[in-house]
Amino acid sequence: MKVAVIGIGCIAQVHIPSLLHCGQEIVALCDCEREKCEKAVQKYGLEKSRIYTDYIRMLDEVKPESVHVCTPHYLHAEMVCACLKRNINVICEKPLAISLEQLGEIEKAVKESSATLGVCHQRRYEMVMQEMKRCLAGDEILTGNGNLCWSRNEAYYRSGEWRGTVAQEGGGVMINQALHTLDLLLWFMGMPSAVVANTANNTLQGVIEVEDTASAIFYFDDGKRFVINATNGCNYSFHVSLQFMSKTKNVTIVGETAIVNGEAQKIAGENPFYGKAEWGVGHAKLIDHFYECLAKGEKFPIDFYEGQKVVRLILAMYESKSKKVEVK
Ligand SMILES: NC(=O)c1ccc[n+]([C@@H]2O[C@H](COP(=O)([O-])OP(=O)(O)OC[C@H]3O[C@@H](n4cnc5c(N)ncnc54)[C@H](O)[C@@H]3O)[C@@H](O)[C@H]2O)c1
Repeated sequence: MKVAVIGIGCIAQVHIPSLLHCGQEIVALCDCEREKCEKAVQKYGLEKSRIYTDYIRMLDEVKPESVHVCTPHYLHAEMVCACLKRNINVICEKPLAISLEQLGEIEKAVKESSATLGVCHQRRYEMVMQEMKRCLAGDEILTGNGNLCWSRNEAYYRSGEWRGTVAQEGGGVMINQALHTLDLLLWFMGMPSAVVANTANNTLQGVIEVEDTASAIFYFDDGKRFVINATNGCNYSFHVSLQFMSKTKNVTIVGETAIVNGEAQKIAGENPFYGKAEWGVGHAKLIDHFYECLAKGEKFPIDFYEGQKVVRLILAMYESKSKKVEVK
């Protein structure tokens, strides 16, 4: 398939090799900083790819069959809508959007388009997550708990003007780093209906406008709960951990390791892996599956309706300020 990538920063360095790995043809690269595209052409041997700094022009001139949106958060909704309006398939990096209004615009575009939208919640594709999903299938999970304890210092936030800003990142540790942890909790346990949450900027006051630390208790109508704790304020990035309890199983997942009822599990197989270990090892698998679904005419599972869920949970966390609020 003829594919274009918009935003040739950090995460594009995972999307481009993943696309090449699954045999797609990269026909165009777009970044407002042209030299980033030129570097990628050299690095990945993409001499046949056209370079653009204006993504609308690229969509209209190149007419790609599929686009990867790898830009800062505030641009996702407009870029996804521009693709869908042209009936171009699109994979959007997380978060799908940073407001309910943006989600509304994307939903309208999805309904009016013949193209497919996929959202990059790649941790669902890791072998350990797939294996634990199978292990817990059919069990009622009674409670869950996710922890992210990472380090993001001033230099990290200064590395991109959009980072750490309400208008362009849309939030801090929750909407950027811990989004995947929360997405996994909802993938295993379903969509809660209410939340009580606190957020704070504990280590980077005067540097970022958004939270570096957050905690939340999510409530289901039937009395179940799950909990998330997340911080970028540590001086080391530990593996993310998840725990689930069903009537018969106590499951702990740390990095790529799983322990079920006290026994470490052997997880067969490996994911092809590019980029940083912290980003998990699911990108190549997710991208491969997206194109497999397109080729076979099958539904890609992480569509608008699935991708929007974690955004709604995070927006409810931001609204909560220690009060119980409904997830909208
Ligand atoms: N799934 C994951 O695990 C994961 C990991 C890292 C980043 N991400 C996501 O990927 C996205 C990008 O993050 P990043 O770390 O690569 O950021 P980045 O700042 O390194 O890259 C973004 C790129 O977009 C370009 N850009 C900005 N505005 C543009 C425009 N109007 N047109 C074209 N290009 C434009 C910038 O010049 C930059 O090169 C974010 O949504 C981030 O949350 C996801």
